[in-house]
Amino acid sequence: MTRPVPARPIGVFDSGLGGLTVVRQLRRHLANEEILYLGDLAHLPYGTKSTREIRRRSEECARYLLKQGVKALVIACNSASSVAYRSLSKSLPIPVLDVITPAVEEALASSRSARIGVIATYATIASKSYAKALAKRRPDADYFMQSCPLFVQLAEEGWLDNEIALGTARRYLEPVKKKSVDTLILGCTHYPLLQKVIAKVMGRSVRLIDSAIPTARRLGKLLEERGIRSRRTGRAALRIRVTDFPRQFARIGAIFLGEELSNVKLVKVP
Ligand code: DGL
Repeated sequence: MTRPVPARPIGVFDSGLGGLTVVRQLRRHLANEEILYLGDLAHLPYGTKSTREIRRRSEECARYLLKQGVKALVIACNSASSVAYRSLSKSLPIPVLDVITPAVEEALASSRSARIGVIATYATIASKSYAKALAKRRPDADYFMQSCPLFVQLAEEGWLDNEIALGTARRYLEPVKKKSVDTLILGCTHYPLLQKVIAKVMGRSVRLIDSAIPTARRLGKLLEERGIRSRRTGRAALRIRVTDFPRQFARIGAIFLGEELSNVKLVKVP
């Protein structure tokens, strides 16, 4: 028997475990919503891949989650959101959320000077997704983009606040700092974990935007509007599906989710 729509899970996918930073906020803000998470670990990273390949992988992940009966889809990966959001939101019969729109809206609401920095993967920067979303809403503003690929490895290694993390952050962020931005979008699933060193380099006056929180808020609003918000009382389950079990899987996953991983299964996603 199929479950009524409000009782169905929310599908979330990412290239790997980084999207669990988004799940962490979804569980905090929408605790009674069941979540089915798909980490495409067999194809990690997306951030260095071509647009075509990221789009193809995103379609496969979305198809898998749809088959499992999810009521809405969150593209937790910035790289996938950058190149696949538009086509997925047009082609899928359920509501689809990206992580870029909520981050951009939050940044514009918070910035006084309209000088905004964005740090992200190569794929996200090359797609110009953030630049276009910002320019569309505030054509007069100034935006500065910087790819920070090593942040992904630092976060996965758990090197969040040591001298190597700080040195790397200095190297990537000094040029952005020189542009006197007052707001910096953390445009990659992994970067919120490095907030401490990023804040140290950028200084207290720069507000850091983590898309996970505004994404959770936006999802809650959307579910209410569509009348498909869960009516469950109490905390709902989180099920994690992965396309590979790489080494250090449990350790890395726990860093992102903020708790031990459980209910994890290996699945085949072509
Ligand atoms: N999840 C990716 C993103 O947010 C980072 C890791 C990767 O490159 O796959 O862009």
